[in-house]
Amino acid sequence: MEYRTIIEPFRIHSVEPLRLTTEEQRRAAIDAVGLNLFGLHADDVLIDLLTDSGTGAMSRDQWAAIQHGDESYAGSPSWYVFLEAVQELFPFRHVIPTHQGRAAEKILFTAIGGPSKVVPNNTHFDTTRANIEFSGAQAVDMPIAEALEPSLVHPFKGNIDVVALERLLAERPGDVPVVMVTITNNSGGGQPVSLANMRAVRDVCNRHGVPLFLDACRFAENAWFVHEREEGQSGRSVAEIVREFASLADGMTMSAKKDPLANIGGWLACNDDDLAARCRALLVLTEGFPTYGGLAGRDLEAIAQGLREAVDHEYLRYRIRSTAYLGEALARAEIPVVQPIGGHAVYLDARALLSHVPPLEYPGQALAVELYVAGGIRGCEIGTVMFGRQADGSERPAAMDLVRLAIPRRTYTQSHIDYVIEVCIEVGRRAPELRGLRIVEEPETLRHFTARFEPIA
Ligand code: F0G
Repeated sequence: MEYRTIIEPFRIHSVEPLRLTTEEQRRAAIDAVGLNLFGLHADDVLIDLLTDSGTGAMSRDQWAAIQHGDESYAGSPSWYVFLEAVQELFPFRHVIPTHQGRAAEKILFTAIGGPSKVVPNNTHFDTTRANIEFSGAQAVDMPIAEALEPSLVHPFKGNIDVVALERLLAERPGDVPVVMVTITNNSGGGQPVSLANMRAVRDVCNRHGVPLFLDACRFAENAWFVHEREEGQSGRSVAEIVREFASLADGMTMSAKKDPLANIGGWLACNDDDLAARCRALLVLTEGFPTYGGLAGRDLEAIAQGLREAVDHEYLRYRIRSTAYLGEALARAEIPVVQPIGGHAVYLDARALLSHVPPLEYPGQALAVELYVAGGIRGCEIGTVMFGRQADGSERPAAMDLVRLAIPRRTYTQSHIDYVIEVCIEVGRRAPELRGLRIVEEPETLRHFTARFEPIA
């Protein structure tokens, strides 16, 4: 008998208290920080869906692995445990441990970026883009056209536009140091990339002699979607699918704070000996010796164990199903969400829900603030606040105004999510009364972290 209810495939062993607050207290807390959710004290948040990064719950076996952490400066046994676990899924010749994903990006683009270079991706995550641009290179997004249509259902909305990629490589020979593919495409809605698309990108890269790197943060969730949706893949294990993705690439950047179920960590991997040597030289300057990088031995152990758990089918079935559970309930209640539901997050379409608020009055931010005030839920605006400011200081609407509700791994139960659904429905009811915002103070870059807002009268 197949039962309908998908239960959490774990029980709870250690608990963290949540602090209940009133709507009045939350109104005061968010007003005090200029309506910016990043400014809150996390104790004032009830359900924290700001990010799925580093916020997951570690397993009993990961905590046990931490006790095996060996803190030898060079050649720690924990390093070999980590290396073996990484290469089991991603058999690249060189693995370079970093304290998180952006440190791997910084090292890679310091080594291969620079003025006159251009780096394509399905959609760059903001730290990837920032690191490419900091090197003087240009970062370009090439998602398939379907990806920009929030309500459109497509099984692999994370795919890169292979025709546009081929055109870029033909027009700029010698200027593209690497092609990146982000699995899953976070900024594009947590949407997966198909194996067929990855193979096509490989062919294009071969024809133009350009290396291909994965930004593989959510590799296991991506492989689960391939297992479920791509023809001929349902009989293979997720680990096998991951290994095929790796075999099609020349290297990867990684944040262990996502699918590897750790609270910190990352790595850079590649097959090119010369590139690896240059990256290791940079690693030593800011992260550490090549057998620990930016990490303690105990972190290396936790990541190694997390990697084994990340590809477990029962875990992934629960993970992807529980994200869809939230998204589908909201869609049924006619709250507009990005379709189909992604792997790690549900993206509310604030531009559609708050259609009376123009993009330059930040409907995503207004919606995110109201979710907090109404129910203590912290999401994240991904829209005109994050992407609207141009290099010349002017502003223009981002492609979409979304609010991301990212689900930390193994952290909240179905009743927490039922509560989130109830709050979202209440906020949907209030939507016509919500007003737009204006920015009263902002820094020069990455303004979403610290800008202050006020309501427009
Ligand atoms: N690439 C992708 C696709 C990411 O989602 C992130 C982080 C990074 C790289 C950088 O990794 O945080 O370890 O330095 N994403 C988090 C998020 C912060 O909330 O989506 P990091």
